[in-house]
Amino acid sequence: MAFLEAKALSKTYRNAEVPVPVLSSIHIEVEKGEMLAIVGPSGIGKSTLLHLLGGLDRPDSGRIRVGDADLSSMNNDELARFRNRNVGFVFQFHHLLPEFTAQENVAMPGWIGRSEKSAALKRAASLLLELGLEARSRHFPNQLSGGEQQRVAIARALLTDPLLFLADEPTGNLDLETSAKVFDLMRECHTKRGLTSVIVTHNPELAARCDRVLAMNRQQN
Ligand SMILES: Nc1ncnc2c1ncn2[C@@H]1O[C@H](COP(=O)(O)OP(=O)(O)OP(=O)(O)O)[C@@H](O)[C@H]1O
Ligand SMILES: [Mg+2]
Repeated sequence: MAFLEAKALSKTYRNAEVPVPVLSSIHIEVEKGEMLAIVGPSGIGKSTLLHLLGGLDRPDSGRIRVGDADLSSMNNDELARFRNRNVGFVFQFHHLLPEFTAQENVAMPGWIGRSEKSAALKRAASLLLELGLEARSRHFPNQLSGGEQQRVAIARALLTDPLLFLADEPTGNLDLETSAKVFDLMRECHTKRGLTSVIVTHNPELAARCDRVLAMNRQQN
C-alpha cells in the first residue's frame, strides 16, 4: 500500500467573481521512502495539489490518506495537529519570521506543537549543525543568503520529525549551483530519515534526480 494516496481530488477556487477550476479528479500515490518530483506549467495547480496533500487546504471532493491517517475525515483542529506533527513544508519564499533568529525559526514548529521551549531550541541547534549552519544560528533571516535561508527552512520543516516532506519550488529563487547544493541536502535528509517527499520544481535537472517525475498538464486536468 502506498504511503500517500490521493484519490479523485478536485478543487475549484470560488473566492473570486469567476470560479477557477484547478484540479479535477487527480489520483496520486507515493510510496514510502520515495522522492517524487512534480513538474508542469505555471498555473496548472502544483502548489494547490501540494497544499491539499499536506492538509494546508481541503479538496472539494476526493480523499487523501497519509500512512493510516485519513485527512478527509479530520476536523480543522485534527488537521492542524496532523500537519504540525507529520508534515514538513518548504516553500519557494522561505517564510522565515524576520524578528526571530535562525534557531528560533527552526524551533517554531516545536513551540506551536507545545514542546518545551528549551528542548525545541536544542533540537533546532542540532538540525542547524547537521545542515552546516551552526555559525548562523543567531543570525536573523535578513542576515542570511537565499541558500542559507532555504537551508534554515529545511531545518524548520524537519523539526518535528515529519513522515512527509513537501517542498514547493524550494530552489526557485536560487542560482544553479546553490540550487544543486540545497537539493543535495534535501536528498540527504530524505534518505537519512526515510522520508516520503514530494518536490515541486521548474528545474528539469533536479526533477530528474528524484525517484520519479509526475508531469501535470492540461489534459490531466
Ligand atoms: N487562493 C486562491 N484563490 C483563487 N485562485 C487561486 C488561489 N490559489 C491559486 N489560484 C489559481 O489556481 C490556479 C493554480 O494555481 P497554483 O498556484 O496551484 O499553480 P502552480 O502550478 O503552482 O503555478 P506556479 O508554477 O506559477 O507556482 C491558478 O490559476 C491560480 O490563479
Ligand atoms: Mg506554485
